[in-house]
Amino acid sequence: MTVGPENDYGFEGKAAIVAGGGAAGDGIGNGRAAAMLLARAGARVLVVDRELKLAERTAEMIKAEGGTAIAHATDATVPKQCEQMVQAALDHFSRLDFLDNNIGIGSRGSVVDEPLETYRRVMQINVETMFLCSKYAIPAMIKTAKGGAIVNVSSISALRPRNLTTYTTSKGAVIALSRAMAVDHGKDGIRVNCVAPGPVYTPMVYAGGMSENARSQRAKASVLGIEGTGWDVGHAVRFLLSNHARYITGQTLVVDGGVTIQAPARDSAG
Ligand SMILES: NC(=O)c1ccc[n+]([C@@H]2O[C@H](COP(=O)([O-])OP(=O)(O)OC[C@H]3O[C@@H](n4cnc5c(N)ncnc54)[C@H](O)[C@@H]3O)[C@@H](O)[C@H]2O)c1
Repeated sequence: MTVGPENDYGFEGKAAIVAGGGAAGDGIGNGRAAAMLLARAGARVLVVDRELKLAERTAEMIKAEGGTAIAHATDATVPKQCEQMVQAALDHFSRLDFLDNNIGIGSRGSVVDEPLETYRRVMQINVETMFLCSKYAIPAMIKTAKGGAIVNVSSISALRPRNLTTYTTSKGAVIALSRAMAVDHGKDGIRVNCVAPGPVYTPMVYAGGMSENARSQRAKASVLGIEGTGWDVGHAVRFLLSNHARYITGQTLVVDGGVTIQAPARDSAG
């Protein structure tokens, strides 16, 4: 089969960092799925996680499929480690083209409930890590690839708040950060977009235990009546990083089975 431009993601010979690319066990988190899909389309991937074991498992899964991946430990709240992460990508691959900023943690409660320390920690992990990884990745992309693409992972909680107030705030900031970075670095040939997942069934979600009933409630929240997976998010990330999205920047792609498009239930008068 001839591979035409419509089948060419533009990843061959290129290099990506997936920050937060680990996942517990063999589970498919959003970052692991993106890393595997990028590698399947020909990208070489530095799989980065605070927990090396989790990143190593993703790298093993990629190598088992014939792809190229290296696991790297980074606590992305530490500037020096983010700088070293980018250097590691350059050392291994001699270039950097793509960054998937996938690191994030959840939180629950109103401004009254949430302790200030939790607010600061969530903002640091959900926003500051994306700021720091980008700070070091962008100059490397410009220098070694004359351009590139970044995806920052937000959440539909940024668009439809529901008592996850600190998380909502952090994920709203991720959307604003993406738009600002897109404006700042368009001239450098760097596109920056955002993916806003709905409820997807990843190790982070089921680690705390989730009943079948809760899963079915989550599925029912979508207009399609189905539950999302890490693969759904990974495919969106891969599309936005690819050549196919060359004319798209500063956008937020909602991946939620239609959870956010429905009007709330009300009377039947329309
Ligand atoms: N799962 C969902 O339903 C859902 C919905 C909307 C948005 N998201 C977002 O998707 C992203 C990934 O979610 P997931 O469910 O796959 O989670 P996950 O916990 O499986 O993946 C996140 C990874 O980030 C790593 N990490 C955390 N802090 C880090 C740090 N300081 N430095 C380096 N690595 C660090 C963790 O070790 C983990 O492996 C997050 O940003 C999350 O907010 C998830």
